[in-house]
Amino acid sequence: MHVSVDETKCQGHNRCMILAPETFEVDDMGFAHVPEDKREVTEDHREAVEGAARNCPEMAIVLSGG
Ligand code: F3S
Repeated sequence: MHVSVDETKCQGHNRCMILAPETFEVDDMGFAHVPEDKREVTEDHREAVEGAARNCPEMAIVLSGG
């Protein structure tokens, strides 16, 4: 599974950071991104990343692939 943040939708709610801190990082303005080396989600992070995607109020977290 692949994850990224749609930066045109992110409003800085930071729930992703709380729910999956090992995948998401937040910049100085509070907007989230996924560092390039974290975009391919490993099995041990999958549940946290899926939870973050469900809980983002802006639906800004994009999951793709299996
Ligand atoms: Fe942005 Fe959603 Fe996270 S609005 S900071 S991607 S919870």
